[in-house]
Amino acid sequence: MRTLLLSIACFLSVNVLAKNAFEVNDLRTDYRENPVGIDTRIPRLSWEMASNERGEIQTAYQIKAAYTEAALKSEKNLLWNTGKVLSDQSNQIDFPDKNLQSRQRVYWQVKVWDQKKKASPWSKTAFFETGFLNTSDWKASWIEPDLKENIQESNPCPLLRKTCKLKGKVSQARIYVSAHGLYQMSINGKKVSEDLFTPGWTNYNKRIQYQAYDVTSSLHAGVNAIGLMLGDGWFRGNLKWDMERNHFGEKLAAIFQLEVTYEDGTKETFVSDNTWKASTGSGLKSDIYNGEVCDARLDKKGWDAPEYDDSQWNGVTVKDFDKQVLVASESVPVRVVRVIKPINKFRTPKGELVFDMGQNMVGWIHFRLQGQAGSSIKLNFAEVLDKDGNFYMENLRSAKAEDIYYFKGEGIESYEPHFTFHGFRYVRVENYQGDIALEDLTGKVICSDMTETGKFSCSDSLINKLQENIQWGLRGNFLDIPTDCPQRDERLGWTGDAQVFAPTACFNVDAAAFFSKWMKDLAADQRADGNVPHVVPAVKTGYGSAGWSDVAVVIPWVVYQVYGDRRILENQYESMKAWVEYIRKNAGNSYLYQSGKHYGDWLAFATTRSDYPGATTDKDLIATAYYAYSTSLLSKTAAVLGKTEDASAYSQLFEKIKTAFQKEYMTPNGRLSSNTQTAYVLALAFGLIPEDMKLLSSERLANDVKQFKHITTGFLGTPLICDVLTEYGHTDLAYMLLFRKDYPSWLYPVTRGATTIWERWDGIKPDGSFQDVGMNSFNHYAYGAIGNWLYGKVAGIQREGEIPGYKSIVIAPHPTSKFTFANAEYYSVYGKIFSGWENGKDGFRLHVLIPANTTAKIILPVSQVETVLEGGKSLAKVKDIQILGDKEGQVMLQVGSGEYYFSMPEVLVNY
Ligand code: BGC
Repeated sequence: MRTLLLSIACFLSVNVLAKNAFEVNDLRTDYRENPVGIDTRIPRLSWEMASNERGEIQTAYQIKAAYTEAALKSEKNLLWNTGKVLSDQSNQIDFPDKNLQSRQRVYWQVKVWDQKKKASPWSKTAFFETGFLNTSDWKASWIEPDLKENIQESNPCPLLRKTCKLKGKVSQARIYVSAHGLYQMSINGKKVSEDLFTPGWTNYNKRIQYQAYDVTSSLHAGVNAIGLMLGDGWFRGNLKWDMERNHFGEKLAAIFQLEVTYEDGTKETFVSDNTWKASTGSGLKSDIYNGEVCDARLDKKGWDAPEYDDSQWNGVTVKDFDKQVLVASESVPVRVVRVIKPINKFRTPKGELVFDMGQNMVGWIHFRLQGQAGSSIKLNFAEVLDKDGNFYMENLRSAKAEDIYYFKGEGIESYEPHFTFHGFRYVRVENYQGDIALEDLTGKVICSDMTETGKFSCSDSLINKLQENIQWGLRGNFLDIPTDCPQRDERLGWTGDAQVFAPTACFNVDAAAFFSKWMKDLAADQRADGNVPHVVPAVKTGYGSAGWSDVAVVIPWVVYQVYGDRRILENQYESMKAWVEYIRKNAGNSYLYQSGKHYGDWLAFATTRSDYPGATTDKDLIATAYYAYSTSLLSKTAAVLGKTEDASAYSQLFEKIKTAFQKEYMTPNGRLSSNTQTAYVLALAFGLIPEDMKLLSSERLANDVKQFKHITTGFLGTPLICDVLTEYGHTDLAYMLLFRKDYPSWLYPVTRGATTIWERWDGIKPDGSFQDVGMNSFNHYAYGAIGNWLYGKVAGIQREGEIPGYKSIVIAPHPTSKFTFANAEYYSVYGKIFSGWENGKDGFRLHVLIPANTTAKIILPVSQVETVLEGGKSLAKVKDIQILGDKEGQVMLQVGSGEYYFSMPEVLVNY
């Protein structure tokens, strides 16, 4: 079966295009398809040139844009017509400054010319629509419900309602809406969208996102009702391990604006104001950490329908809150992205009824059950069972993770919470008096709904499980911001974790808009002196840890590299520079960053055995290494942006830091003062070792790995160790680390049944007991950063040097004798890249797909070019392939777009 599978990948086309197709697809504005409510004045347009031809390059493009579809078609009154532009750019083309107004929809189409100067047909029509470009567009007022509340605890979820009488048929309607807290909105009793956790998480004192919805089809002539339900969320719910409430304010509030255009062309606006009504309903408590309590008997049936009688409801108070903090959402919304069913139910040794979802997931349980009025069901959520098989919640610390529902007793009742989420595989059910079948429960998995862009698989099922766990770790922790974990009383935007995982994240999902939004959150929380918080949004944790705060520089650079996104560099430049300048001030003329509080190589291998050292890397060494790294990235950024003075100043600064690093932390023989894997990995990866000592240094790293026979790195060393080993010719050791099954290793948790990545190498110890209950998450993505190496080195999909956006691709697979095949695909901004290899007695086969408008270097793991065939022909006879040469056991080729099937003799490797 395996052989069959692999032959399919190696011989069947992975291109989904029809034969001879030549078209322009996937039109996007700022990474989104037809976005409504953007507030950039210069949006960026991108498309994919799709073609089956080999060596296809876009030689020219034409964009036309208009205010109406009719104008676009007729090409009369075009807003913008580029004419034929000789350019291969197909990604992030600035829409010119056309003085766009608020609420402006712009339709656009593109066509391209190929290398034979043949034109494609016009693309399908795409559009974007602006939201509010000026604060004065907000006619609505912030309103707070007039409800008696005890702000020390979670209060019933406020309901806000208002009817709007529409005087005729609607031709167009938009809602612009936001809240202090979280909101869910309905019109005439129906949800307006599937978006969850709106308006998202930002530092609400500085930035609050609003959402824009096209609600044309939800409204009718006559009376319509608007309903908003609010929840505490991050705004005033518990946050941080000290369970502190009211971080951003004590009262919930909303702002709402409905703009209607009637068929006769007249317009009308309905806004939140002092005529709105407020009450509460069945939602008694909602808290992200603790869960929700719902008493269905208190349901205000039809509360969001037009005919509902709200005469007994309370009023609202208009508040003069700042509207300048309102910004359009620029990331993708959180949604239900998967639905799963429990695979089992059982009684634990303690006698508890537990359902097993088969997967450590993030979201909640939706149930359909029947109960007598006033009877209840209580659900608790846990990631693991203890070694006796009992339900184990202690690692959630003070997070209660508990949903309680009181039945109203009217037949089958269907319920799911609104403003909480849990990280769990197991669900404990208490208090329920009936039988529950597996199909009565559904697990709803929630995540920022980013397009999935990557797949990796190979012939080893444990490695495939590791890859799945990496993706589940991502799915569980990218919830409007990248969080560290989804289950305990934390779930914060830890910067170090996100920084090390970003390259892996970007293989698996399109994270560009997500990170762009979060980087703005970061800049908003950066201190005037440039210091960067450990968590973003900053909720009273520290500032300035090396490897954590460096996220300010690293993530913009990663996003630029992966997506060719210059805008993020422009937007973040001041923030990036401020962080480096902050360190520069602290380091002074020593060029060593030796002050401040640092997490160091967090959770590195530790041991209590006296004959067997752990691996503690000097925090000062790490801090200076990261100072150098951020400085070098800043210098490159300045060069990209044409800031030549800064580019050279920071490159000189880098050299000074490098010299200082060597003087302070390196002996004349190239030994680092911390003789640890992480120290060598960082120094080599960040270019801090003198040229003539690199080999020696990499040998020291290799020897350390050989001596321990396992990884000793923590959060900062782990993401880079296999890459550095591969780069210096120790792919065998990188694979040894990958295949190891004992603690500490990536596969140890997999062999213990993990379905996500653990926070610690030994969250469950070999004897079955748990690690320190104070910090033991089973869904932390940081160690999943090995994913970057699986795509980049095992399957071999990489970018060439620092050419951004996969415009120049490198395909360089690294076979191992332990796999018969490995495949990866990555959907880049130019289209799909595929690299799949198969190795065995029948030879080594490599199947490659390179998207149109890109080129690739293919590095084959064989030494003689004569032994290589493509499509059954010797390379010399294939006109689309240029042979660049063969050296050091490798053949290097240059190709253009298209699909290629290489075959050559078996690659013999003894690892
Ligand atoms: C978080 C980590 C974070 C670390 C830094 C932990 O509590 O869960 O992921 O990076 O603290 O100290």
